[in-house]
Amino acid sequence: MAQTFETVGVVGLGTMGAGIAEVFARSGRRVIGVEADDVALERGRGHLERSTGRAVAKGKLTEDAQREILGRVTLTTSRADLADADLVIEAIPEIMEFKRVLFADLDRVCKPSAVLATNTSSLSVTAIAAGTSRPGRVIGMHFFNPAPVMKLVEVIHTVVTDDGLADDIAALARSLGKTPITAGDRAGFVVNRLLLGYLNHACVLLEAGVAGRDDIDAAMKLGVGLPMGPFTLLDLIGLDTSYEVCEVLFRETRDRRHAPAPVLRELVTAGLLGRKTGRGFYSYGEVAPATPEARQAASVSTVGIVGGGPEAATLATAVERAGFKPVVAESADLTPVGDADVVLALSDRPVVELAVRLPHPERLAGLHLVGDGVAEVASTVLTSPETTAAVHDLVQILDRTPVMCGDRAEFVVNALLYAYLNDAVRMLESGYASAGDIDTGMRLGCGYPAGPLEMLDAIGLEAVRDGLRALYAEYREPAFAPVPLLDQLVTAGVRSIREYAG
Ligand code: 3HC
Repeated sequence: MAQTFETVGVVGLGTMGAGIAEVFARSGRRVIGVEADDVALERGRGHLERSTGRAVAKGKLTEDAQREILGRVTLTTSRADLADADLVIEAIPEIMEFKRVLFADLDRVCKPSAVLATNTSSLSVTAIAAGTSRPGRVIGMHFFNPAPVMKLVEVIHTVVTDDGLADDIAALARSLGKTPITAGDRAGFVVNRLLLGYLNHACVLLEAGVAGRDDIDAAMKLGVGLPMGPFTLLDLIGLDTSYEVCEVLFRETRDRRHAPAPVLRELVTAGLLGRKTGRGFYSYGEVAPATPEARQAASVSTVGIVGGGPEAATLATAVERAGFKPVVAESADLTPVGDADVVLALSDRPVVELAVRLPHPERLAGLHLVGDGVAEVASTVLTSPETTAAVHDLVQILDRTPVMCGDRAEFVVNALLYAYLNDAVRMLESGYASAGDIDTGMRLGCGYPAGPLEMLDAIGLEAVRDGLRALYAEYREPAFAPVPLLDQLVTAGVRSIREYAG
């Protein structure tokens, strides 16, 4: 019969630990929360009170129910109080030495039947297990921030995990209202392995000056429908944790995509760790965003549009409706737009080669429409600041959010998205996780509107493969080269990777 785990210990009551304690207390279980000292314990109590208080304020929880939940949690600084726990979950900082010392201690204090679980983001569960006398009863139980909200739990088993234990922990996760996916012990498991590569890539684009923080965040939130842009999410996860996960991933994969971007190291060194310290990529408590530098927009009456097909025609109609005179040209012959006040080249590829064919190259910017709400505006090295400002304003008049960026392959959205989709195909190809688990992981772990393989099918395998080829040609980054499986599926005419994967 499956174990029920009536009494649960949680060691470390930071954001994650306190969230995990709340989840167990909400399920009716008795929880023992352990912290190193009284100050940390009070901080943990504060997390618990605020999180449940937020639910009360929203009318999702009565005050009586809040009292009951908090009443189920005993807070202590003594690990000896965990002697009766059926399960103990560790949620302390991501430092292997600290974890090994803690697990040796838990091994001594806890009853022999107790399961010892780690909420590590990426460290080796096997290495943690090996330091105890009960490696078969040590497992990974990985929650996502904020733990009370995100529906996913990754259950990580090792080569020495007792038979049936992963199933028991998965059943426990279900009893908490979560959806479990089970994975082997590889750095980053399923979700962080995909997520952190993408978040780190956003940092690399920022550092390369391809686009700014707010533009990249807007691009991914409004253009792709993710719940948060990458920098907002990095601040939520914590830049120290993000840095550590990247570091561990890089150590295992040696993939430059995982090598932590220098800006992460700089912020971490400066103690700017994100929300928890009040400042990371953003400052919290910031009253109003800084006023962008005033730019004089070019005075515009004629708008040139370079591109064919329905997208150019629709844009021309919208431009006309906004009171400007549109002129459309195909890229083969730019003569009609030669005298336009600004020229919008519809493309997701670099447009500087079009600019140099115009009599006024400074008047051209690339324009990539993303979904219904976003337009990426790519300025080339020749685009004048007046043109950039005019196109920015024009895009707003057309009721879209402008994302200002440099003239680089796939601009921002597709550069970030396609590389992430490629990583997901690589994971599928390696046999490490099933298509269903990969999609469920990203949907429920990060609140994405669809999993990466679902997104790949929706965008089209060929379009993504071609975008990746363009990215590779531009950046020569090996991780951008289409994964052989993707290339072969396109060549074979397969339209759905999910159907192919069964
Ligand atoms: N604690 C508890 N509850 C919280 C919370 C918190 N810190 N933040 C938000 N919530 C609750 C709110 O109370 C609300 O609940 P309700 O629907 O019952 O009223 C719900 O979440 C939605 O909150 P809001 O309406 O205030 O805000 P949003 O709609 O913007 O949602 C979000 C907030 C749920 C955090 C959403 O932005 C999201 O899903 N973001 C993505 C988070 C993510 O990717 N997490 C995974 C990070 S990776 C990780 O943790 C692994 C680690 O190993 C690195």
